Amino acid sequence: MADVIIFGVLDTAELAHFYLENDSEHHVAAFAVNREYIKESHFKGLPVVAFEDVEKLFPPSGYSFFVPMTARNMNRNREKVYLEARAKGYSFVSYISSRATVYDRSLIGENCFILEDNTIQPFTTIGHNVVLWSGNHIGHHGRIDDHVFFTSQVVLSGHCHVHSYSFFGVNATVKDYTNIAEGTLLGMASSLNKDSEEWGIYVGNPAKRVPGKLSYEAY
Ligand SMILES: CC(C)(COP(=O)(O)OP(=O)(O)OC[C@H]1O[C@@H](n2cnc3c(N)ncnc32)[C@H](O)[C@@H]1OP(=O)(O)O)[C@@H](O)C(=O)NCCC(=O)NCCS
Repeated sequence: MADVIIFGVLDTAELAHFYLENDSEHHVAAFAVNREYIKESHFKGLPVVAFEDVEKLFPPSGYSFFVPMTARNMNRNREKVYLEARAKGYSFVSYISSRATVYDRSLIGENCFILEDNTIQPFTTIGHNVVLWSGNHIGHHGRIDDHVFFTSQVVLSGHCHVHSYSFFGVNATVKDYTNIAEGTLLGMASSLNKDSEEWGIYVGNPAKRVPGKLSYEAY
């Protein structure tokens, strides 16, 4: 059981508070945002403190951190805050829904946010700072690196390697044994049947690369 500081006060922070309080052993102690974004002193009845000096009020010796942000800037905004909180000395919780099917939680890293109805098959490893929104199929013998975001109802077949910063739109599909290069963005309802290239945007069935645009320019 950990007392947790959640980063943010927007939708994902509100959802993280809900899930941690209702479906985990952890308790939320406070919210932290960058000082310039503080509008209210409390959220959900808990203090909102400046991220810049959160460690003075809630020291890493007594509190863990959770950064449940969106994938904006291809997961790199969430990575930045995660690394800053780590540099302050915090450990992180991961939330894994009790309604997810997960065979080996030790294969999942820190600061992961894994919601209901995900199926993570055996022998697949998941790095740090990975979000699996609801209802994804994560196939067996795969590897998901750090700072990755799956939205919902994505099918990642077996033996795939997902490199860091990748993003999967709703209902996307990936063929088995595919290498998803760093920063790949697979659009909603798109079907990737061959290896992708770094920071490419892929849409359609079969998915084709969107020419002349990098993923971080679109999302
Ligand atoms: C891929 C995506 C990011 C758009 O990227 P973009 O580079 O801005 O692309 P554009 O909107 O300029 O579209 C480029 C072309 O691809 C097409 N396209 C875009 N997304 C597509 C998709 N998912 N499937 C098929 N075609 C798609 C567009 O119609 C357009 O075609 P056109 O040039 O013939 O008109 C967006 O469509 C997407 O799929 N986002 C994910 C949404 C999602 O899953 N949200 C979940 C909530 S978190």
